[in-house]
Amino acid sequence: MQCFMPRSNKVPDLPLVANKRHSKKGNKDIEALRGTEYHLSRLMRPDDANVVGNVHGGIILKMIEEAGSIVCTRHCNTQNGDRCVAALVRVEKTEFLSPVFIGEVAHVSAEITYTSEHSLEVQAKVMAENILTGAMKLANKAALWYVPCSLQNVEKITEVPPIKYASAEQEEEGRKRYETQKKERLETKARTEELVVPPSKPEQHTVGFSQSSLIHLVGPLDCTLHDYVHGGVTMKLMDEVAGIVAARHCNTNVVTVAVDAINFHRKIKKGSILTVSGRLTYTSNRSMEIEVLVDVSSLVEPEIGTISSCLGLLRLHLPGQVQQGDVCASSQD
Ligand SMILES: CC(C)(COP(=O)(O)OP(=O)(O)OC[C@H]1O[C@@H](n2cnc3c(N)ncnc32)[C@H](O)[C@@H]1OP(=O)(O)O)[C@@H](O)C(=O)NCCC(=O)NCCS
Repeated sequence: MQCFMPRSNKVPDLPLVANKRHSKKGNKDIEALRGTEYHLSRLMRPDDANVVGNVHGGIILKMIEEAGSIVCTRHCNTQNGDRCVAALVRVEKTEFLSPVFIGEVAHVSAEITYTSEHSLEVQAKVMAENILTGAMKLANKAALWYVPCSLQNVEKITEVPPIKYASAEQEEEGRKRYETQKKERLETKARTEELVVPPSKPEQHTVGFSQSSLIHLVGPLDCTLHDYVHGGVTMKLMDEVAGIVAARHCNTNVVTVAVDAINFHRKIKKGSILTVSGRLTYTSNRSMEIEVLVDVSSLVEPEIGTISSCLGLLRLHLPGQVQQGDVCASSQD
């Protein structure tokens, strides 16, 4: 179940494209949809969770990405010209602050907090509601960056309509975040050409032993209007493989507690084959760091071969003790 609660408090002075066909009352409703915020809620079901009822981090990340994509796509289409779809290009480091359980409702609120000429920053907050007691807890806070890609030519990046800031300080802080991420991502871009080679006959408690991969064929349900994968789908797969690596290493229940900044440098087309590989890079007493790499190969264009798409670091936590000291980050088997 998804519900939508429009906020009318921040309406930018921009021409509305879709309002001509509506009555006066309809116009008012649409007016309310023009804001730079979006709210998405969903009841957490058994297929969202692991065997002990903790909702997977990837499900929450997927919801956050969906809310961000909707608010950015809507905002970028409030001006005349090319229609476009907002593509996720970066997620800043995020922490899972409280667990979410089956039967709770996850409420995601996403707001555009900064715009550059061709990109938008969205800040999202996730609250988990126990609908039996009314108790609410903060589950996650995340910052994401989107880029609008023209609907007619996916390689063309369209201009972003500016937002109104509450104060000059708020705009200045946003500009600083924009410059910081730009500098950081240029430094990480070089790592995307790496490959994770499957180990042969790995021994227990080594990196190679728990190293795991998921193979996924990209279908229509995974894709945007452009027929390219939603960033949330990729993040969900990344979280799933990290969970498998962690469970293999520890043989117990694990939960995702943090995800480092991830950049999405390339688009992944419908029909691609994704190989999502994870390996342990560090263990402490009760937590593990897992590096996840997404390789893409094409079914229909075999000459493209395998390209690496994105790289992420996920931290997982467990109630017991990790097999500390047995893991060597540089060793493959
Ligand atoms: C979006 C994309 C075409 C940008 O390509 P690019 O060659 O980096 O483009 P540019 O360098 O010209 O940057 C264009 C704008 O995007 C922004 N941008 C690009 N990559 C970014 C990133 N990782 N994080 C934040 N902003 C980014 C740039 O800052 C620039 O905006 P500005 O002009 O206002 O500064 C490319 O990164 C891409 O296709 N990414 C995959 C998107 C996707 O499919 N997401 C889902 C993945 S599963």
